[in-house]
Parts: sequence; C-alpha cells; structure tokens
Amino acid sequence: MTAQPLDRSPGGILAWLDRRLGRREDESRGALLRRKLRKLQPKTLLARVVIIVIAPVVLAQLIVTAVFYEIHWNNVAGRLARALVNDVNFIIAWRADNPGDQNFRWIQQRAKDDLRLTVTFEPNAVLQRQTDTDPFSFVEPTIKRALERYNTRPFYFDINNEDDVLIRIQLADGVLQVVSPLSRLYTNTSYTFILAMVGTTLILLGIALLFMHRTIEPIRRLAVIADNLGKGREVPDFQPEGVLETQQAARAFLTMRERLRRQVQQRTEMLAGVSHDLRTPLTRMRLGLAMMGDSPDTAALKGDIADMERMIEGYLAFARGDGDEEQAPLDIGALVEEVAADARRAGGAISTRLEGNMKAIARPLAMKRCLANLVANAQRYGKTIAISAVRRKRWIEIIVDDDGPGIPPEQREDVFRPFVRLEQSRNPLTGGVGLGLTIARDIVRGHGGDLVLLQSPMKGLRARLRLPV
Ligand SMILES: Nc1ncnc2c1ncn2[C@@H]1O[C@H](COP(=O)(O)OP(=O)(O)OP(=O)(O)O)[C@@H](O)[C@H]1O
Ligand SMILES: [Mg+2]
Repeated sequence: MTAQPLDRSPGGILAWLDRRLGRREDESRGALLRRKLRKLQPKTLLARVVIIVIAPVVLAQLIVTAVFYEIHWNNVAGRLARALVNDVNFIIAWRADNPGDQNFRWIQQRAKDDLRLTVTFEPNAVLQRQTDTDPFSFVEPTIKRALERYNTRPFYFDINNEDDVLIRIQLADGVLQVVSPLSRLYTNTSYTFILAMVGTTLILLGIALLFMHRTIEPIRRLAVIADNLGKGREVPDFQPEGVLETQQAARAFLTMRERLRRQVQQRTEMLAGVSHDLRTPLTRMRLGLAMMGDSPDTAALKGDIADMERMIEGYLAFARGDGDEEQAPLDIGALVEEVAADARRAGGAISTRLEGNMKAIARPLAMKRCLANLVANAQRYGKTIAISAVRRKRWIEIIVDDDGPGIPPEQREDVFRPFVRLEQSRNPLTGGVGLGLTIARDIVRGHGGDLVLLQSPMKGLRARLRLPV
C-alpha cells in the first residue's frame, strides 16, 4: 500500500481538516465549529461559573499587576540605579578634585557613613573581566542601563552575593571599586504589592467558591432526586433549599411527583375496581349458562366467558402487581442465570452471555417477572434461545433472541398493548391472555428504561431491554 500524497492546496487542507475534526456529511463548517466549541465548554455549573465570574477577575488582577510592575520597575528601579551611578560619579569627581591619600580616606569614610558605599582604589589596575548579565535577573539589566547611560568610563559590575552589588570603574590611574548594598536598588513595595494581589485574589476566590458551592449544591441534589424519580425509585420528601429559583424548581418538582403518584394510583385503583366488579356479573352469566345445559351455542359462550375471566384475572394480577416492591441492589447476571435455569427446566436450548459489571438497583421480583415473560415468549415461539446481558456506559442491556417466526415490523408496537395477541385464539395451550409484553414494558419503564422488539440475527424475534444504572 502506498501512502497517499498530501494535498497542500487550500481545498486539500480543508478536506484534511474536515476528516480530522470528523465533519458530518450534511454539516456546515460553522456548525462543526460550534459543535467543537460546545464540546470544549465545561459541563458542570460550578466550572462554568468559575470561568464566567472568576476568570475575568483573575485576569484583570494579572493585567493590573503586570502593568504596575512594568511601570514600577522601569521608574523606581531605574531611578534608584541612576542615584547609585550618580553617587559613584560624585565620588570620582571628588577624588579628582581632592588628591592625596588622606583626602581619599576621608572620602571613603564619608561614602561609608552617608552613602552606605564601600569605596576602594587599586592603583594602576586594569579592568579585566567583561560583565555578563543574567537575563533572568531583574536588577542587573537596570544597573547596566544606568551605568551605560550616566557613566562614560569602562565599567564592570557584579552581584557577588545576594546582598551586594560590586561596581568597578576604570580611571586613568587605576580602578575604583564601589560595593553597595543591593537594598539601595530594591524597594520591597513591589513584592508587597504582588503578595497583596495574590492574597486578595485567593481570598476572593475562596469566598466565591464557597458561595457557589452553597448555591449549586441544592441544584445538584435536585438533579439526583429527579433522576431517581425518572428511574422509578422512591423519592423521599425534602425541604426546598438554595436560591429562590432552585426552591421554586424543587417545589414544582414535589408538586409534579405528587400528581404523578396520585394519577398512577387513581388509574390502577379504578381499573382494578372495574375488573373486580366485572367478575360478579360474569359469574352470574356462567351460572346461568350452566343451567341452560350443553348445546353448541352455550359451549361457545362458555368459552368466551372463560376467556374474559382469565383476562380479568390476568389484569388484576398485573394491577395488584409488584408496585409496592422497593428497589434494591440487584445482580442482573445472577437474575439472568436464574431465569434461564427456570426456563431450561421447562425444556429448550437456552444459552446465556454476561459481560461487564452487572450491579444495578431495581425491583428484584418485578425484574424477574419481566425477564421471565420475555423468555416464556421466546420459548413458546422458538426452539433455541440466547440471552445476553451487557454493561454499557449508562445502562445494562439485556437481549433475548429466539429463532421462532418473529413479528412483522409493523406489529411490533401493537403487541405491547394489553390483551393484544397476534394469534387470535385464546387457547390456554398456545398462549396466555396477551399481557406478558405489556407487563414487561411497564416494569422496565417503571425503572426509567425501555423495552423494544427487533429482528433477531437468529431469524426470530429480539427483545431488547435497557435498564439505566
Ligand atoms: N418471541 C416471539 N415470537 C413471535 N411472536 C411473539 C413473541 N413474543 C410475543 N409474540 C407475539 O406477541 C403477542 C403478545 O405477547 P404477550 O407476551 O404480550 O402475550 P402472550 O404471550 O400471548 O400472553 P401472556 O404473556 O400474557 O401469557 C403474542 O401473542 C405473540 O403473538
Ligand atoms: Mg407472553
């Protein structure tokens, strides 16, 4: 295989960029850019607030510090260096005007006392070394600049230890050496200023983070509670907290939870009531029919009544349901094996495959019933059954495949409706009442997941269940 030559034309580069950034077929470059930028944005509220509020403050502080420091350094440090060089010039001039050892000793004394300078003179010496300034030092370039600007003679200087600067000037009759304390060139205010700046920034940051945390925490808690409600878990009462808007959202959430609860309860109770009340007239009808004796007509009616009774029993069992069961930690892997083992006892080839962490929180009995319904269907219509449970990022995916006749795509939604059976007879030998899938989906949705029917690679039906974790 030969490597494709790189196309360096503008079009080629754009195409290369598109490929690198993963531009979709129908996406404009602007949309691509927006998508990428969105991805770069921090996801959590706290991170965003930090960027929106705190980043500008810190940036402003940094800029102010930098500007101040630049001006301060150029002005103050420059002037201090100039003063030192002027002192040196003054000493040189003084010495030239007042020759003699005695005068020089007097100059040395005055320099020591009044200017804090240690002055020595080496007769007939010649400057040897060149000054090499340290580019990272703050003072050295300043001294150098001052010496170059305000002194005409050859010079050498060095910061020989942390406290002193040593300046050597070439005179006609020797070398004059002046040692000055470095503190003559520094002011401590700049450090104090930076320290104050960093200190206040840190304190402000701490206070801001504390407040942000206290503001965001109730939102985060509300999100967790809402998520639990979505997954059908028990949501305890809680006190709305935080800022007004968060409290408002929390109260709205509580109202919504109450309404949902009432609605579900009302509906279940009503249907259960109707079903229950239907039993009495049905029993009366059955008795009436029994009195009429056996004839082909009554036989058909008896069959219908038996059907209706089974449907009502099925519905009542469903409505009584596992609604009150609490969610608990559940090992889906163990559950799958259990259901498979139960089904094997009834006969049939059933294989299982588990992959990844199978720990979930769910209603154990309900989940078992749901899986058992799916496997019972697969067993009824197919010969070979494969169950797999795979852990994905946000959910556990359980798939039940069979090699039966399957269901045509346009009817795959219909069969979830209560009492819908594709085979019209309600023969107890070939099938139940048509509630199996309804119940299974109800259970999965009650956990915040979903159940769909698909075409199985095994030619039959595939039931795919996703349970959020
Ligand atoms: N694995 C499958 N292969 C082919 N058809 C299926 C399969 N599973 C379900 N069906 C069809 O969907 C219909 C509804 O299934 P559902 O489980 O809700 O009811 P049921 O099995 O008939 O009765 P119940 O489960 O209440 O005893 C079935 O009657 C059947 O026609
Ligand atoms: Mg069924």
